[in-house]
Amino acid sequence: MQDQRLMIPGPTPVPQSVLQAMARPMMNHRSKPFAEILEDCTDGARWMFQTRNDVFILTTSGTGGLEAAAVNVLSPGDRVLALVAGVFGKRWADICQAYGADVERVEWPLGQAYDVERVKEALAKGPYLVLLMTHNETSTTVLNPIAEIAALIRRELPDALILVDSVSGLGTADLPVDALDLDIVVAGSQKAFMLPPGLAYLAVSPRAWEAIGKAKAPRFYFDLVRARDFKAKGQTPWTPAISVFYAMQEALRHLRAEGLTAIFARHERLAMGLRAGVRALGLELLVKDDAIASRAVTGVWPPAGVAANDFRKVMQDRFGIVLANGQGPVQDKIFRIGHLGHVGELDITSCLSALEIALVGLGAKIELGTSVAAAQTEFMRAAAPEPVAAR
Ligand SMILES: Cc1ncc(COP(=O)(O)O)c(C=O)c1O
Repeated sequence: MQDQRLMIPGPTPVPQSVLQAMARPMMNHRSKPFAEILEDCTDGARWMFQTRNDVFILTTSGTGGLEAAAVNVLSPGDRVLALVAGVFGKRWADICQAYGADVERVEWPLGQAYDVERVKEALAKGPYLVLLMTHNETSTTVLNPIAEIAALIRRELPDALILVDSVSGLGTADLPVDALDLDIVVAGSQKAFMLPPGLAYLAVSPRAWEAIGKAKAPRFYFDLVRARDFKAKGQTPWTPAISVFYAMQEALRHLRAEGLTAIFARHERLAMGLRAGVRALGLELLVKDDAIASRAVTGVWPPAGVAANDFRKVMQDRFGIVLANGQGPVQDKIFRIGHLGHVGELDITSCLSALEIALVGLGAKIELGTSVAAAQTEFMRAAAPEPVAAR
């Protein structure tokens, strides 16, 4: 019997010390000790976002964070341009539409990332008050070029609000919120923060605050003005998920010790090692181009004659490795391997080792050890020390 290993794109594995931090007794959330925890966690989230802007920690899931961004900046009839490259891009567009915004969508085919040409064309039909982007499109395992597209938007529509869903992206790939001049960026606890679900994070720019002052969409639980007023008193408007705040303090200790650059490099190394392994077996990746491949999750087509769900069942039953199904048009057709948060190289090589055994058991013609060796080679290449400069 194996312990379960979660390799889905969230919730992700949580370090033991972080789990233990949650076993502390409850406290009064309207007290000085909680105010200190709130401040500490807010500072840590600011560090993850690389921002000096206001950051709010809301007790909700990632979708709640997306809804909070929408209801605070929008009024019915406002023009929104949504860049949709998969299920989560579509979800945010749907949320804005549900609150009465006039939403224009640009859609990309499965497994493709945003490109400047199509966004430029769409911007020409503006102006738009709000632009919606997804940093890491978890459903299609695509990493979108946010820096490039944000720079284009700023040139073409300097006053537009740029909203970014980085629920599964933040902490897996560099997203310097201030340097990119992003207005609201949303993240979630159960992803690279290595926490249980329960908290959403919003980084809010001064430009976004101006819009919040004018917005008319109905809101209550997610009212950021109320959140700001309570934050000034060291509180949240409503009862927070206190245990997840305890956990967050501990997770931040780990994250800060590793450092942002090393965290991004680790996620890149894991993604590239896994991709090298999958390619070595002759399997097809959902996203072919490494440059736009998610650093958080990888989508793979099973070999001919193997059903994706049969394969996932063997991985779970025999090895305890939990993989994710495809989403949208590739549901039940591909499998997705999550590798974000509290994950290291051995998780990738052992997953590949199990994957080979499972595929051979299901009749695939592959040579054992092939993918593991390819991942090892990639890890050694990526971890090679910088050559010492000649004197
Ligand atoms: C990119 C992205 N956006 C939004 C969400 C929604 O988050 P939640 O399921 O926490 O509501 C997810 C969840 O996987 C996600 O990956």
